Amino acid sequence: MKGVILAGGTGSRLRPLTEITNKHLLPIYDRPMISWAIETLVSAGIDELMLVTGGTHAGEFLRLLGNGHSAGLERLLYAYQDKPGGIAEALGLAERFVGNDPVLVMLADNIVEYTIKSAVDNFNANPTGARIILTEADNPDHLKNLGVPELKDGKVVHIIEKPEIPPSNYGVTGIYMYDASVFDIIKTLEPSGRGELEITDVNNHFIDQNMMAYDILEGFWGDAGESIDAYWKVNDFVRENGANKIKH
Ligand code: DAU
Repeated sequence: MKGVILAGGTGSRLRPLTEITNKHLLPIYDRPMISWAIETLVSAGIDELMLVTGGTHAGEFLRLLGNGHSAGLERLLYAYQDKPGGIAEALGLAERFVGNDPVLVMLADNIVEYTIKSAVDNFNANPTGARIILTEADNPDHLKNLGVPELKDGKVVHIIEKPEIPPSNYGVTGIYMYDASVFDIIKTLEPSGRGELEITDVNNHFIDQNMMAYDILEGFWGDAGESIDAYWKVNDFVRENGANKIKH
């Protein structure tokens, strides 16, 4: 399975910090945010990764990560997103790198307390369609900032992006597994109201084809890019508890 980490976008919700650097280079406890996401994928068994980024600080990722060997990667490739056209557009840039393999995609501002290896093993056992990872919300208001699944008889029947009225108490984390058909789906997408190709539209395509599975995450999950308070909440959590741990 190949890995893709998405670290483009504008980071507008963390301005002015992101006027002078890329959001995913900001510190989370003792290292840049991006390093935690790479550790998440490496601890799940991924050793070939493409990092997609953009903007004026893209070169800093190369300086930090180099060829990826010290992070435990066999191969690290980079792609440049010309404009922040959405998560699905950013993923589309990895098409040739992924080829016909299954792919694990992670948004670089997501942090997990425990390794996601068991979910990845679940997808590897039957690597067709898509598999997402859900997190139970501590506060229903929080769901208004996320993709939220409607669940019925143990299946996801639809995902609503940033709903006014959340259809369940679960959020869709920024960790997605797909077979290579995801790249055909991305080519059919139209920009959303905010002018982006949305990953939620990709996921709804798989749901409509009855090709979507999910796992529910144990432990803490955070999106450090959601707001300045979320950024500090994730920092405090990681400083006290660490991340990407093996659950005993
Ligand atoms: O964090 C989980 C949430 O992430 C999901 O629940 C939502 O369904 C999903 O749409 C996404 O929502 P966000 O509002 O957090 O997405 P955001 O625009 O902040 O982008 C998240 C990451 O994706 C960002 O850290 C970098 C990457 N990205 C984003 C855009 C728009 C790119 O690489 N390129 C882009 O053009």
